[in-house]
Amino acid sequence: MDQEIEIKIVPATKLTRVDKKAIQALCTRAYGEDVWCDYEYLNTAFHIVGFDAEKIVSHALWVDRSLSVNGAAPLLTAYVEYVATEPCLQGQGLASQLLRFLIAVIQDTVLLNAERDDDVHYQLAALAPADSSFYQRLGWELWQGELFVRENGQQIATPDDNVMIYRLASTPKISVQDTLSAEWREGELW
Ligand SMILES: CC(C)(COP(=O)(O)OP(=O)(O)OC[C@H]1O[C@@H](n2cnc3c(N)ncnc32)[C@H](O)[C@@H]1OP(=O)(O)O)[C@@H](O)C(=O)NCCC(=O)NCCS
Repeated sequence: MDQEIEIKIVPATKLTRVDKKAIQALCTRAYGEDVWCDYEYLNTAFHIVGFDAEKIVSHALWVDRSLSVNGAAPLLTAYVEYVATEPCLQGQGLASQLLRFLIAVIQDTVLLNAERDDDVHYQLAALAPADSSFYQRLGWELWQGELFVRENGQQIATPDDNVMIYRLASTPKISVQDTLSAEWREGELW
């Protein structure tokens, strides 16, 4: 049975300085190096934070991105990053709980709009996995087709990246064999 933790959604704008430091330190311990970058796009992120007795033990976040399949109208995508669990608590189902919760939240308009001022309807979730098998077990699919980043009207191929998607109830019919593109951003493109 999974270990019980309290899970909260915290918009980056409401994250306390102490919690932000705790999340950064947790990511450093989990990844074995300082992976946190203060990119501007993280200021609008939503953190999913797992607490055990008020201590942050597991974390993920999502940011809004525009992903386009075969050049069609972009899909509003919850793009997941910084998934991390305290090393001594790994393998007990914490990150799995957080990711299931994240998927439930981004599909729940009422819950979602209680957390933010705008009225959003996600059409897809995506992430760049370090280990795809962990996410595959949770229903994520590895993209098989070509990957691109859109910049100034151009499509730049990113053949070295791996991307996974999660189909939401609102995801249109898409094939993972097609081409997938994201808008350019600073730092990690995927
Ligand atoms: C990847 C990571 C976030 C997973 O966190 P976690 O809390 O250990 O995840 P879970 O416990 O939910 O699942 C991990 C494994 O334990 C297994 N597991 C989950 N609950 C379990 C339980 N109660 N008993 C036994 N095994 C269990 C899962 O099946 C999973 O197996 P898998 O790795 O073969 O897929 C964590 O290992 C981590 O922080 N890694 C370093 C950072 C990193 O690589 N992040 C991901 C970048 S994409």
